[in-house]
Amino acid sequence: MQSVARRLAARGKRIGLVPTMGYLHEGHLSLIRRAKKEAEVVITSIFVNPTQFAPNEDFARYPRDEKGDVRKIKTAGGDIVFAPKASEIYPADFQTYVNVEKLSQTLEGSVRPGHFRGVTTVVAQLFNITRPDVVVFGMKDFQQSVILRQMTEDLGYPIKYVVAPTVRESDGLAMSSRNKYLDTVARREALCLYYALKTARQMVAAGKTRTAIIAQEMRAVIRATCPTARIDYIAFTNMRTLESVRNVQRGTVVSLAVRVYGVRLIDNMKLR
Ligand code: PAF
Repeated sequence: MQSVARRLAARGKRIGLVPTMGYLHEGHLSLIRRAKKEAEVVITSIFVNPTQFAPNEDFARYPRDEKGDVRKIKTAGGDIVFAPKASEIYPADFQTYVNVEKLSQTLEGSVRPGHFRGVTTVVAQLFNITRPDVVVFGMKDFQQSVILRQMTEDLGYPIKYVVAPTVRESDGLAMSSRNKYLDTVARREALCLYYALKTARQMVAAGKTRTAIIAQEMRAVIRATCPTARIDYIAFTNMRTLESVRNVQRGTVVSLAVRVYGVRLIDNMKLR
């Protein structure tokens, strides 16, 4: 892959990269289409990255469909699929990790220690292997997009960094490969995340900006839609620093993680 990328660069081709863990849905395809607007050759990586899963998480059962993915990538205009084996990315004596120290500790990082260290390590490798001019990530994984931007800047990668909007189902549920785990009831009640975010947006539009009050209302909406839901966090933060804010201001993003019948879902919305 690295020599293919070198050859493309030598021929003056602009390379776009869309890193994924496969089991692609419309959200991923929108990233590929966006990359295609930015670059002549789009590489989509498919790699279920073991180092970003804790031992108690869903690595083994994470949905996979490589054949279907390749078909979808072609239809979306992707040019190259890079699907390495785990032993190629992490050979037996592998021992070098990349860690974005501060940003990786909050929100998802506080509930999933080590998760972002795995993400930044594999994405740094993907950058080194595919040598992209532009990379596209989704806003759906808001904190991930902030951390990877920081890594890209800190390590001086000469890469244009694009974050594309979240793609939602027609009823508002954010598309995610993990939605596959939801049965009919859970799928219906999973809308509690979107309803809570919409409530936050409506409150801000009505001039209410105290985040503690908005969070209280969001919790009530979640309880009403999915009484058994377990809220991991509802957080109001600056969209670049991830520092929490007491009042919604320019650049505030609200993000939340909720377990719906045991399926952990995340979502977010920019409020101003
Ligand atoms: O967002 C994902 O699918 C993964 O975290 C990523 C960026 C492909 C790294 O494994």
